[in-house]
Amino acid sequence: MFNALVVDKDEESGKTSAAVKQIDVSDLPEAEVLVAVDYSTVNYKDGLCIGPGGGLVRKYPHIPGIDFAGTVEESSDDRYKPGDKVVLTGWRVGEAHWGGYSQKARVKADWLVPLPKGLDTRQAMAVGTAGFTAMLAVMALEDHGLEKNHGPVLVTGAAGGVGSVATAILSNLGYEVAGVTGRPETTDYLKSLGATQIVAREEINETVKRPLEAESWAGCVDAVGGAMLARVLGQMKYGCSVASVGLAGGAGLPATVIPFLLRGVNLLGIDSVMQPYDNRVRAWNRIASDLPMDKLEDMVHPATLSDLPQLGADILKGQVKGRVVVDVNA
Ligand SMILES: NC(=O)c1ccc[n+]([C@@H]2O[C@H](COP(=O)([O-])OP(=O)(O)OC[C@H]3O[C@@H](n4cnc5c(N)ncnc54)[C@H](OP(=O)(O)O)[C@@H]3O)[C@@H](O)[C@H]2O)c1
Repeated sequence: MFNALVVDKDEESGKTSAAVKQIDVSDLPEAEVLVAVDYSTVNYKDGLCIGPGGGLVRKYPHIPGIDFAGTVEESSDDRYKPGDKVVLTGWRVGEAHWGGYSQKARVKADWLVPLPKGLDTRQAMAVGTAGFTAMLAVMALEDHGLEKNHGPVLVTGAAGGVGSVATAILSNLGYEVAGVTGRPETTDYLKSLGATQIVAREEINETVKRPLEAESWAGCVDAVGGAMLARVLGQMKYGCSVASVGLAGGAGLPATVIPFLLRGVNLLGIDSVMQPYDNRVRAWNRIASDLPMDKLEDMVHPATLSDLPQLGADILKGQVKGRVVVDVNA
Protein backbone atom coordinates (compact mmCIF):
# COMPACT_ATOMS: atom_id res chain seq x y z
CA MET A 1 0.00 0.00 0.00
CA PHE A 2 1.16 3.55 -0.66
CA ASN A 3 -0.16 7.12 -0.59
CA ALA A 4 -1.69 9.00 -3.50
CA LEU A 5 -3.89 12.03 -4.02
CA VAL A 6 -7.13 10.51 -5.27
CA VAL A 7 -9.83 12.63 -6.92
CA ASP A 8 -13.32 11.15 -6.88
CA LYS A 9 -16.58 12.33 -8.38
CA ASP A 10 -20.01 12.19 -6.78
CA GLU A 11 -22.19 10.95 -9.64
CA GLU A 12 -25.35 12.61 -8.25
CA SER A 13 -24.03 16.13 -7.68
CA GLY A 14 -21.25 15.89 -10.28
CA LYS A 15 -18.88 17.42 -7.70
CA THR A 16 -15.29 16.22 -7.37
CA SER A 17 -13.27 15.95 -4.17
CA ALA A 18 -9.54 15.29 -3.65
CA ALA A 19 -7.96 13.53 -0.66
CA VAL A 20 -4.79 11.61 0.18
CA LYS A 21 -5.66 7.89 0.27
CA GLN A 22 -3.86 4.55 0.58
CA ILE A 23 -3.95 2.46 -2.56
CA ASP A 24 -2.48 -0.88 -3.59
CA VAL A 25 0.15 -1.51 -6.30
CA SER A 26 -2.34 -3.89 -7.94
CA ASP A 27 -4.70 -0.90 -8.44
CA LEU A 28 -2.20 0.77 -10.80
CA PRO A 29 -2.86 0.50 -14.55
CA GLU A 30 -0.94 -2.08 -16.59
CA ALA A 31 2.25 -0.74 -18.28
CA GLU A 32 5.93 -1.67 -18.66
CA VAL A 33 7.63 0.40 -15.97
CA LEU A 34 6.85 0.79 -12.25
CA VAL A 35 8.42 3.98 -10.88
CA ALA A 36 8.92 4.91 -7.22
CA VAL A 37 8.03 8.59 -7.49
CA ASP A 38 10.24 11.06 -5.61
CA TYR A 39 8.79 14.41 -6.66
CA SER A 40 6.02 15.97 -8.69
CA THR A 41 4.94 19.59 -9.21
CA VAL A 42 1.89 21.80 -9.83
CA ASN A 43 0.84 23.04 -13.27
CA TYR A 44 -2.31 24.83 -14.47
CA LYS A 45 -3.62 21.51 -15.86
CA ASP A 46 -3.04 19.94 -12.43
CA GLY A 47 -5.22 22.66 -10.93
CA LEU A 48 -7.98 21.61 -13.33
CA CYS A 49 -7.51 17.89 -12.64
CA ILE A 50 -7.36 18.27 -8.84
CA GLY A 51 -10.55 20.33 -9.09
CA PRO A 52 -13.48 19.99 -11.46
CA GLY A 53 -11.47 18.30 -14.25
CA GLY A 54 -11.83 20.88 -17.02
CA GLY A 55 -12.81 18.10 -19.42
CA LEU A 56 -9.32 16.57 -19.14
CA VAL A 57 -10.06 13.64 -16.81
CA ARG A 58 -11.78 10.68 -18.46
CA LYS A 59 -12.52 8.39 -15.53
CA TYR A 60 -12.83 8.55 -11.72
CA PRO A 61 -11.31 7.74 -9.27
CA HIS A 62 -8.32 9.59 -10.74
CA ILE A 63 -4.74 10.33 -9.65
CA PRO A 64 -3.58 13.69 -11.07
CA GLY A 65 0.01 14.91 -11.49
CA ILE A 66 1.04 15.62 -15.10
CA ASP A 67 4.75 15.21 -14.38
CA PHE A 68 7.03 13.35 -12.00
CA ALA A 69 10.60 12.23 -11.43
CA GLY A 70 11.68 9.09 -9.62
CA THR A 71 13.50 5.77 -9.64
CA VAL A 72 12.61 2.69 -11.70
CA GLU A 73 11.48 -0.16 -9.43
CA GLU A 74 10.46 -2.78 -12.03
CA SER A 75 10.69 -2.80 -15.82
CA SER A 76 9.71 -5.26 -18.54
CA ASP A 77 11.28 -2.93 -21.16
CA ASP A 78 14.99 -3.30 -22.04
CA ARG A 79 15.57 0.46 -22.02
CA TYR A 80 15.05 0.70 -18.24
CA LYS A 81 16.26 -1.28 -15.23
CA PRO A 82 15.67 -0.96 -11.47
CA GLY A 83 17.58 1.98 -10.01
CA ASP A 84 17.45 4.15 -13.17
CA LYS A 85 16.48 7.77 -12.53
CA VAL A 86 13.72 8.94 -14.86
CA VAL A 87 11.53 11.95 -15.57
CA LEU A 88 8.11 12.05 -17.18
CA THR A 89 6.19 14.99 -18.63
CA GLY A 90 3.20 15.01 -20.97
CA TRP A 91 1.57 12.13 -22.88
CA ARG A 92 -1.68 13.03 -21.01
CA VAL A 93 -0.35 11.38 -17.85
CA GLY A 94 -2.23 12.87 -14.89
CA GLU A 95 -5.19 13.62 -17.21
CA ALA A 96 -6.24 10.55 -19.21
CA HIS A 97 -3.83 8.27 -17.27
CA TRP A 98 -2.99 8.11 -13.56
CA GLY A 99 -0.19 10.53 -12.75
CA GLY A 100 2.53 11.58 -10.36
CA TYR A 101 0.64 12.62 -7.19
CA SER A 102 1.42 9.15 -5.90
CA GLN A 103 4.31 7.31 -4.28
CA LYS A 104 4.25 4.83 -7.18
CA ALA A 105 3.26 5.14 -10.85
CA ARG A 106 3.12 2.51 -13.61
CA VAL A 107 3.68 3.98 -17.08
CA LYS A 108 4.75 3.18 -20.66
CA ALA A 109 8.52 3.05 -21.23
CA ASP A 110 8.03 5.32 -24.29
CA TRP A 111 6.82 8.14 -22.02
CA LEU A 112 9.97 8.23 -19.87
CA VAL A 113 13.22 10.12 -20.37
CA PRO A 114 16.41 9.11 -18.51
CA LEU A 115 17.43 11.91 -16.16
CA PRO A 116 20.44 13.71 -17.64
CA LYS A 117 23.73 13.81 -15.73
CA GLY A 118 23.90 16.80 -13.40
CA LEU A 119 20.18 16.84 -12.54
CA ASP A 120 18.60 15.04 -9.56
CA THR A 121 14.92 14.10 -9.25
CA ARG A 122 14.09 17.13 -7.07
CA GLN A 123 15.72 19.53 -9.53
CA ALA A 124 13.92 17.78 -12.40
CA MET A 125 10.60 18.63 -10.79
CA ALA A 126 11.72 22.15 -9.90
CA VAL A 127 12.02 22.35 -13.70
CA GLY A 128 8.90 20.24 -14.38
CA THR A 129 6.65 20.56 -17.43
CA ALA A 130 6.77 24.35 -17.07
CA GLY A 131 10.56 24.53 -17.25
CA PHE A 132 10.79 21.83 -19.90
CA THR A 133 8.34 23.86 -22.02
CA ALA A 134 10.30 27.05 -21.37
CA MET A 135 13.42 25.26 -22.67
CA LEU A 136 11.54 24.03 -25.78
CA ALA A 137 10.48 27.64 -26.39
CA VAL A 138 14.03 28.99 -26.07
CA MET A 139 15.32 26.22 -28.38
CA ALA A 140 12.63 27.08 -30.96
CA LEU A 141 13.59 30.79 -30.85
CA GLU A 142 17.26 29.88 -31.32
CA ASP A 143 16.41 27.46 -34.14
CA HIS A 144 14.66 30.40 -35.84
CA GLY A 145 17.65 32.71 -35.61
CA LEU A 146 17.54 34.38 -32.16
CA GLU A 147 20.94 35.82 -31.35
CA LYS A 148 22.26 37.74 -28.35
CA ASN A 149 22.98 40.98 -30.17
CA HIS A 150 19.44 41.28 -31.60
CA GLY A 151 18.01 43.06 -28.53
CA PRO A 152 15.80 42.23 -25.57
CA VAL A 153 13.71 39.06 -25.37
CA LEU A 154 10.26 39.49 -23.83
CA VAL A 155 8.87 36.89 -21.40
CA THR A 156 5.14 37.20 -20.61
CA GLY A 157 3.64 35.76 -17.41
CA ALA A 158 7.19 36.15 -16.16
CA ALA A 159 6.57 35.34 -12.48
CA GLY A 160 4.74 32.09 -13.32
CA GLY A 161 6.39 28.70 -13.78
CA VAL A 162 7.14 28.86 -17.51
CA GLY A 163 8.07 32.54 -17.30
CA SER A 164 10.42 32.17 -14.31
CA VAL A 165 12.41 29.35 -15.92
CA ALA A 166 12.47 31.06 -19.34
CA THR A 167 13.79 34.23 -17.68
CA ALA A 168 16.55 32.35 -15.84
CA ILE A 169 17.62 30.33 -18.92
CA LEU A 170 17.65 33.30 -21.31
CA SER A 171 19.54 35.49 -18.86
CA ASN A 172 22.07 32.73 -18.17
CA LEU A 173 22.61 32.31 -21.93
CA GLY A 174 23.46 36.01 -22.13
CA TYR A 175 20.22 37.43 -23.53
CA GLU A 176 18.78 40.70 -22.27
CA VAL A 177 15.41 39.78 -20.73
CA ALA A 178 12.29 41.92 -20.25
CA GLY A 179 9.61 40.34 -18.06
CA VAL A 180 5.90 41.16 -18.20
CA THR A 181 4.13 40.76 -14.87
CA GLY A 182 0.82 41.73 -13.34
CA ARG A 183 2.34 41.40 -9.86
CA PRO A 184 4.66 44.38 -9.18
CA GLU A 185 5.71 42.71 -5.90
CA THR A 186 7.60 40.11 -7.95
CA THR A 187 9.99 42.72 -9.41
CA ASP A 188 12.92 41.81 -7.10
CA TYR A 189 12.33 38.11 -7.74
CA LEU A 190 12.35 38.62 -11.53
CA LYS A 191 15.48 40.75 -11.34
CA SER A 192 17.16 38.05 -9.26
CA LEU A 193 16.38 35.59 -12.08
CA GLY A 194 18.09 37.94 -14.54
CA ALA A 195 15.35 40.20 -15.95
CA THR A 196 16.77 43.66 -16.61
CA GLN A 197 13.48 45.29 -17.59
CA ILE A 198 10.02 44.87 -16.04
CA VAL A 199 6.95 45.63 -18.16
CA ALA A 200 3.68 46.15 -16.23
CA ARG A 201 0.93 43.85 -17.46
CA GLU A 202 -1.52 46.74 -17.91
CA GLU A 203 0.87 48.41 -20.40
CA ILE A 204 0.58 45.56 -22.81
CA ASN A 205 -2.55 43.46 -22.18
CA GLU A 206 -4.93 45.34 -24.45
CA THR A 207 -4.90 45.51 -28.22
CA VAL A 208 -4.44 48.87 -29.95
CA LYS A 209 -5.79 49.99 -33.33
CA ARG A 210 -2.35 50.22 -34.96
CA PRO A 211 -1.24 46.72 -36.05
CA LEU A 212 2.43 47.75 -35.86
CA GLU A 213 4.19 49.63 -33.06
CA ALA A 214 7.87 50.42 -32.44
CA GLU A 215 10.11 47.38 -33.09
CA SER A 216 11.05 46.43 -29.51
CA TRP A 217 11.66 42.69 -29.04
CA ALA A 218 14.15 40.27 -30.62
CA GLY A 219 12.14 37.30 -29.37
CA CYS A 220 9.31 36.43 -27.02
CA VAL A 221 8.36 33.48 -24.83
CA ASP A 222 4.61 33.98 -24.41
CA ALA A 223 2.79 32.17 -21.59
CA VAL A 224 -0.26 34.46 -21.73
CA GLY A 225 -1.82 34.42 -25.24
CA GLY A 226 -4.97 36.46 -25.89
CA ALA A 227 -4.78 40.22 -26.38
CA MET A 228 -1.23 40.36 -24.97
CA LEU A 229 0.09 38.01 -27.65
CA ALA A 230 -1.74 40.00 -30.34
CA ARG A 231 -0.15 43.20 -29.03
CA VAL A 232 3.33 41.68 -28.79
CA LEU A 233 3.21 40.51 -32.44
CA GLY A 234 3.02 44.18 -33.48
CA GLN A 235 6.04 45.07 -31.30
CA MET A 236 8.43 42.44 -32.65
CA LYS A 237 11.57 43.41 -34.54
CA TYR A 238 11.81 42.56 -38.23
CA GLY A 239 12.07 38.78 -38.90
CA CYS A 240 11.91 37.84 -35.21
CA SER A 241 9.86 35.12 -33.52
CA VAL A 242 7.35 34.62 -30.73
CA ALA A 243 7.14 31.18 -29.12
CA SER A 244 3.50 30.69 -28.08
CA VAL A 245 3.46 28.50 -24.99
CA GLY A 246 0.37 29.28 -22.95
CA LEU A 247 -3.04 30.81 -22.56
CA ALA A 248 -3.02 32.21 -19.02
CA GLY A 249 -4.68 35.38 -20.38
CA GLY A 250 -6.98 33.72 -22.90
CA ALA A 251 -7.13 31.33 -25.85
CA GLY A 252 -8.29 33.95 -28.36
CA LEU A 253 -5.91 35.80 -30.66
CA PRO A 254 -7.42 39.16 -31.64
CA ALA A 255 -4.59 39.96 -34.07
CA THR A 256 -4.08 41.01 -37.70
CA VAL A 257 -1.71 39.30 -40.15
CA ILE A 258 0.14 42.61 -40.73
CA PRO A 259 3.16 41.76 -38.47
CA PHE A 260 3.64 38.53 -40.47
CA LEU A 261 3.32 40.25 -43.87
CA LEU A 262 5.18 43.52 -43.28
CA ARG A 263 7.75 42.48 -40.66
CA GLY A 264 8.23 38.79 -41.39
CA VAL A 265 7.38 37.99 -37.75
CA ASN A 266 7.12 34.26 -36.93
CA LEU A 267 4.63 32.73 -34.51
CA LEU A 268 6.02 29.40 -33.27
CA GLY A 269 3.75 26.87 -31.56
CA ILE A 270 5.24 25.01 -28.60
CA ASP A 271 3.71 21.70 -27.47
CA SER A 272 5.30 19.81 -24.61
CA VAL A 273 2.76 16.97 -24.40
CA MET A 274 3.41 15.01 -27.63
CA GLN A 275 6.96 16.32 -28.16
CA PRO A 276 9.07 13.66 -29.97
CA TYR A 277 11.56 11.71 -27.85
CA ASP A 278 14.78 13.06 -29.45
CA ASN A 279 13.82 16.66 -28.83
CA ARG A 280 12.81 15.78 -25.24
CA VAL A 281 16.29 14.38 -24.61
CA ARG A 282 17.83 17.46 -26.25
CA ALA A 283 15.74 19.77 -24.05
CA TRP A 284 16.56 17.93 -20.79
CA ASN A 285 20.26 18.00 -21.66
CA ARG A 286 20.05 21.74 -22.39
CA ILE A 287 18.27 22.24 -19.04
CA ALA A 288 21.10 20.44 -17.24
CA SER A 289 23.68 22.66 -18.96
CA ASP A 290 21.91 26.05 -19.33
CA LEU A 291 19.66 26.52 -16.29
CA PRO A 292 21.58 27.90 -13.30
CA MET A 293 20.73 25.56 -10.42
CA ASP A 294 21.10 28.25 -7.73
CA LYS A 295 18.42 30.33 -9.46
CA LEU A 296 16.26 27.24 -9.87
CA GLU A 297 16.52 26.65 -6.11
CA ASP A 298 15.41 30.24 -5.42
CA MET A 299 12.16 29.60 -7.35
CA VAL A 300 11.22 26.49 -5.36
CA HIS A 301 8.36 26.27 -2.86
CA PRO A 302 8.24 22.83 -1.21
CA ALA A 303 4.90 21.04 -0.75
CA THR A 304 3.40 17.67 0.18
CA LEU A 305 0.51 15.60 -1.21
CA SER A 306 -1.88 17.07 1.37
CA ASP A 307 -1.10 20.66 0.23
CA LEU A 308 -2.30 19.89 -3.30
CA PRO A 309 -6.04 20.70 -3.08
CA GLN A 310 -5.16 24.28 -1.98
CA LEU A 311 -2.29 24.66 -4.47
CA GLY A 312 -4.52 23.43 -7.30
CA ALA A 313 -7.03 26.18 -6.50
CA ASP A 314 -4.22 28.77 -6.20
CA ILE A 315 -2.69 28.05 -9.62
CA LEU A 316 -6.08 28.38 -11.30
CA LYS A 317 -6.26 31.91 -9.83
CA GLY A 318 -2.73 32.77 -11.10
CA GLN A 319 -1.48 32.97 -7.52
CA VAL A 320 1.46 30.58 -7.64
CA LYS A 321 4.90 32.18 -7.93
CA GLY A 322 7.81 30.21 -9.38
CA ARG A 323 7.92 26.45 -9.02
CA VAL A 324 6.19 24.21 -6.48
CA VAL A 325 8.03 20.95 -5.78
CA VAL A 326 5.84 18.23 -4.25
CA ASP A 327 7.69 15.65 -2.14
CA VAL A 328 5.22 12.75 -2.44
CA ASN A 329 7.02 10.84 0.34
CA ALA A 330 6.95 13.64 2.97
N1 LIG B 1 2.38 24.41 -24.54
C1 LIG B 1 2.61 23.56 -23.57
O1 LIG B 1 2.96 22.40 -23.78
C2 LIG B 1 2.47 24.04 -22.16
C3 LIG B 1 3.22 23.45 -21.13
C4 LIG B 1 3.15 24.00 -19.84
C5 LIG B 1 2.29 25.07 -19.60
N2 LIG B 1 1.55 25.57 -20.63
C6 LIG B 1 0.68 26.73 -20.43
O2 LIG B 1 1.52 27.85 -20.20
C7 LIG B 1 0.85 28.78 -19.36
C8 LIG B 1 1.75 29.11 -18.19
O3 LIG B 1 1.95 27.96 -17.39
P1 LIG B 1 2.62 28.09 -15.95
O4 LIG B 1 2.82 26.73 -15.43
O5 LIG B 1 3.75 29.04 -16.04
O6 LIG B 1 1.40 28.78 -15.16
P2 LIG B 1 1.50 29.83 -13.95
O7 LIG B 1 2.61 29.46 -13.03
O8 LIG B 1 0.11 29.96 -13.41
O9 LIG B 1 1.93 31.19 -14.68
C9 LIG B 1 1.09 31.92 -15.54
C10 LIG B 1 1.43 33.39 -15.37
O10 LIG B 1 0.71 34.13 -16.35
C11 LIG B 1 0.38 35.40 -15.82
N3 LIG B 1 -1.09 35.56 -15.89
C12 LIG B 1 -2.04 34.86 -15.22
N4 LIG B 1 -3.27 35.28 -15.56
C13 LIG B 1 -3.09 36.28 -16.46
C14 LIG B 1 -3.98 37.12 -17.17
N5 LIG B 1 -5.30 37.03 -17.04
N6 LIG B 1 -3.46 38.03 -18.02
C15 LIG B 1 -2.12 38.16 -18.17
N7 LIG B 1 -1.22 37.39 -17.51
C16 LIG B 1 -1.70 36.45 -16.67
C17 LIG B 1 0.86 35.41 -14.38
O11 LIG B 1 2.16 35.97 -14.40
P3 LIG B 1 2.50 37.35 -13.65
O12 LIG B 1 1.96 37.20 -12.27
O13 LIG B 1 3.96 37.50 -13.76
O14 LIG B 1 1.74 38.38 -14.46
C18 LIG B 1 0.99 33.96 -14.03
O15 LIG B 1 1.93 33.74 -13.02
C19 LIG B 1 -0.47 28.14 -18.96
O16 LIG B 1 -1.49 28.63 -19.82
C20 LIG B 1 -0.23 26.67 -19.21
O17 LIG B 1 -1.43 25.97 -19.46
C21 LIG B 1 1.63 25.07 -21.88
